[in-house]
Amino acid sequence: MMKMMITWRILFSLLCFVAFVYGQFSPDEAAMNALKTSLNSPPSFSGSNPCNWTKVVQCDGSHRVTHIQIKSLRISGTLPIDLKNLSSLIVFEVMENNITGKIPSLAGLRSLETVNFHDNGFTSIDPDFFTGLSSLQSVFLDNNPFDSWEIPPSLKNATSLAVFSAVNCNLSGKIPDFLGGTFPSLMTLKLSYNSLVGELPMNFSESRVQVLMLNGQKGVEKLHGSISVLQNMTALTNVTLQGNSFSGPLPNCSRLVSLKSFNVRENQLTGLVPPSLFELQSLSDVALGNNLLQGPTPNFTAPNIKPDITGLNSFCLDTPGTSCDPRVNTLLSIVKAFGYPVNFAEKWKGNDPCNRWVGITCTGTDITVINFKNLGLNGTISPLFADLASLQVINLSQNNLSGNIPQELTKLSNLKTLDVSNNHLCVETIPGFNTSIVHVNKTGNNCDIGKDSPNAGKKASSNAGKIVGSVIGILLALLLIGFAIFFLIKKKKQYHKMHPQQQSSDQDALKITIDNLCTGGSESGFSGNDAHLGEAGNIVISIQVLRDATDNFDEKNILGRGGFGIVYKGELHDGTKIAVKRMESSIISGKGLDEFKSEIAVLTRVRHRNLVVLHGYCLEGNERLLVYQYMPQGTLSRHIFHWQEGGLKPLEWTRRLIIALDVARGVEYLHTLAHQSFIHRDLKPSNILLGDDMHAKVADFGLVRLAPEGTQSIETKIAGTFGYLAPEYAVTGRVTTKVDVYSFGVILMELLTGRKALDATRSEEEVHLATWFRRMFINKDSFPKAIDHTIEVNEETLGSINIVAELANQCSSREPRDRPDMNHVVNVLVSLVVQWKPTERSSDSEDIYGIDYDTPLPQLILDSSYFGDNTLTSIPSRPSELESTFKSGQGR
Ligand SMILES: *[C@@H]1O[C@H](CO)[C@@H](O)[C@H](O)[C@H]1NC(C)=O
Ligand SMILES: *[C@@H]1O[C@H](CO)[C@@H](O)[C@H](O)[C@H]1NC(C)=O
Ligand SMILES: *[C@@H]1O[C@H](CO)[C@@H](O)[C@H](O)[C@H]1NC(C)=O
Ligand SMILES: *[C@@H]1O[C@H](CO)[C@@H](O)[C@H](O)[C@H]1NC(C)=O
Ligand SMILES: *[C@@H]1O[C@H](CO)[C@@H](O)[C@H](O)[C@H]1NC(C)=O
Ligand SMILES: *[C@@H]1O[C@H](CO)[C@@H](O)[C@H](O)[C@H]1NC(C)=O
Ligand SMILES: *[C@@H]1O[C@H](CO)[C@@H](O)[C@H](O)[C@H]1NC(C)=O
Ligand SMILES: *[C@@H]1O[C@H](CO)[C@@H](O)[C@H](O)[C@H]1NC(C)=O
Ligand SMILES: *[C@@H]1O[C@H](CO)[C@@H](O)[C@H](O)[C@H]1NC(C)=O
Repeated sequence: MMKMMITWRILFSLLCFVAFVYGQFSPDEAAMNALKTSLNSPPSFSGSNPCNWTKVVQCDGSHRVTHIQIKSLRISGTLPIDLKNLSSLIVFEVMENNITGKIPSLAGLRSLETVNFHDNGFTSIDPDFFTGLSSLQSVFLDNNPFDSWEIPPSLKNATSLAVFSAVNCNLSGKIPDFLGGTFPSLMTLKLSYNSLVGELPMNFSESRVQVLMLNGQKGVEKLHGSISVLQNMTALTNVTLQGNSFSGPLPNCSRLVSLKSFNVRENQLTGLVPPSLFELQSLSDVALGNNLLQGPTPNFTAPNIKPDITGLNSFCLDTPGTSCDPRVNTLLSIVKAFGYPVNFAEKWKGNDPCNRWVGITCTGTDITVINFKNLGLNGTISPLFADLASLQVINLSQNNLSGNIPQELTKLSNLKTLDVSNNHLCVETIPGFNTSIVHVNKTGNNCDIGKDSPNAGKKASSNAGKIVGSVIGILLALLLIGFAIFFLIKKKKQYHKMHPQQQSSDQDALKITIDNLCTGGSESGFSGNDAHLGEAGNIVISIQVLRDATDNFDEKNILGRGGFGIVYKGELHDGTKIAVKRMESSIISGKGLDEFKSEIAVLTRVRHRNLVVLHGYCLEGNERLLVYQYMPQGTLSRHIFHWQEGGLKPLEWTRRLIIALDVARGVEYLHTLAHQSFIHRDLKPSNILLGDDMHAKVADFGLVRLAPEGTQSIETKIAGTFGYLAPEYAVTGRVTTKVDVYSFGVILMELLTGRKALDATRSEEEVHLATWFRRMFINKDSFPKAIDHTIEVNEETLGSINIVAELANQCSSREPRDRPDMNHVVNVLVSLVVQWKPTERSSDSEDIYGIDYDTPLPQLILDSSYFGDNTLTSIPSRPSELESTFKSGQGR
């Protein structure tokens, strides 16, 4: 056996030698021809000897293939599994083609140094791909429509890795720990525009990465947590974390001596901008906007620096370098010891702590009371409380504070009450307060976590006690079980109440499809090539069903009229209510029709609790009908502008906040859909519908256009409604997601004032709400007059009214880049709603966190074939373009 193999080997080598002599044969011929075949034999692969394909292949002296470089040759097809037979391969590059299918494993190719797959149609990568690729240095996977995937553990084998770039390729899960520690030579890590979640791994501390790009994660969760680990990543030159949910303070940058570019826009970062950042001399680009940064506006001092600090933050004053009021400085030092919590960063605005700062009460300009009771605070008590000499009351009770009570607090000569009850403080030895003057409450503290809790200490001392104890225990357990059952039943009932249609009408709609498909007919429904669209789950409903449901479009069933047609209420034979929009046929005809169909194909599959469900549609003859979920409480405009006529009650402020949050979530979802961004373009109260639970859903996707991934904007015909149009859109017709943010800002103004975006009945300077509102808002005296008089303005509501007013102003900024992303808007509104509905945290938690447990978020996997060639070719999303995130105030 052994002998035979050796003989064969010799024979094979001999053969190779002969072939070499004649200059014809390459041992890689079979594998290379398999590649040629599966790439549909492109012209540059001429003949059968791969070493002769000089434009795309290089061989070494033994006629082994070392380089395959097929760039931008419009090649399609797939890659064969035989690639892993090319054991001398060093470089494999197929970027910017149209190759599809799975990237096969190249496991074991020890010479392989570079692989480049970016900008193709690959849908997956073999999990085993990286096994044994010990020489691999560069990996590019950017811009491929992968199915959701995670970085495979086999990457650990690629210990020589220097560049790993997987931008915009549907990567999910967490950033694996091993990317930090395992790769001593990793210099570039680009994972932007994916769906990554979780925190930065702690062992990034050991990483020598220079370029770190994690911006623009999609979905609700995003990357979050602290970015303090950056302070140990001393090799960093370029960092982009824009558009995530990172929180806590900026890192100390004193060791980041090579840092050139630092972009953390659109996160939840709090605290002061450290001097180690704004004095960093290597820095040339920095972007901090749309965070919750506090303290003085930083004065960047590096030569030629271009700081971008536009957009929201919580700086005390606008002028860079100007110090804050000493009271502000002290308060910020105090909350520093709590890790700069978000709730202070959001609510402490301006330079005057006596101007309605949460938790602060003043007498004149002196801070007399600090009440931070029950705010979930972590950390320690700062000795700097002692700098606020006028303090009379400090209440820090019911938090998670640890450490000691600082000795310095005894210096507060006016202090009367210090309540630190119910924390984790060490109170065995308390500083020497004069207890006849200062009332100190330290009950419920226990700094030694290892110790038995006080209750556990009180062991039942007698048998009788034990028996009583266990009886009580059993009773308690029974009670608990009873409660659990009670709540389960209640929850279930609530679900049925809130989602009456989910139960029947989806099924019903499906039934309709099967029973009454608009089949055949060139004009009606889909046929021929389009058949797959039907299979993809969109629903075609026959005109007859809709006629029956609406009494043949009877006048009495009209719910409303819009620019595009009339909306009718309808009822299916089983009683399910629907809303049918009958569009004028002139609006969509000819070429637009195909586009319209494919758009609906997508939209019928878009599901979010804050978007009205589009059940289906019908296109027959001249009829164009859209069938929506029926929303019993009608439009938002009915409730804010026409409540008197409708015999309704005016909306309370808390309800308006919840509605604003609902709308913001719906729009955020549209903006961050899995593979592309939708822009609504016509947000306004008459397109916002309310259910019986008074929760809002965004409706009318008639104007939504698909915004291809990565394009900065799309130019299109103007559509929308005056009063809500962003200036740049009205002037240039350029559409970005910021157009919706503008309209949303106007809606917030309407919710605040009860006035319409355009109201011709008012005096000239009050006609245009956005302009008038801005003027009223600037002046603190005039602003209260602008608030809708039906809103009860009291000390409690005023805080959130002010925040919403500021948000409205920011959203409707003239410059698109000054407007926040919807992500930020949601974060701001969530904090206000949470503040208002503390009790709902447990009973109705999905409202607070926007997670719809009933309707799973769709994994909207959009087959490229839905969009036709023109759409595909209009996606010029090269990595370079995606990275130009400093400009992305215009993008997403
Ligand atoms: C690649 O190698 C495998 C086994 O190592 C073999 O079965 C296969 O035929 C080879 N492919 C080609 C095209 O030579
Ligand atoms: C390879 O190219 C050489 C010269 O360019 C040519 O003489 C030879 O015939 C080619 N061989 C094949 C198999 O095409
Ligand atoms: C590759 O990684 C696997 C675990 O993922 C490990 O078992 C194996 O030893 C590694 N091989 C090499 C060559 O590093
Ligand atoms: C930075 O590195 C030091 C020393 O390795 C470590 O103790 C510290 O925890 C690290 N800090 C962060 C924020 O990772
Ligand atoms: C890093 O940032 C600098 C300064 O903004 C820029 O010139 C350079 O192109 C960036 N490098 C990379 C790899 O992004
Ligand atoms: C900002 O920095 C510049 C350059 O170091 C300095 O000249 C200027 O005085 C600083 N401005 C303030 C307000 O501190
Ligand atoms: C305190 O820490 C917990 C757990 O890490 C965190 O969930 C909470 O948000 C923190 N509280 C504040 C006010 O930051
Ligand atoms: C101390 O605080 C606890 C809990 O906050 C409270 O129940 C108790 O009455 C307080 N004690 C005094 C003496 O005020
Ligand atoms: C890519 O391939 C698909 C299907 O194979 C085809 O429809 C499309 O036109 C191709 N795109 C380009 C840019 O060649």
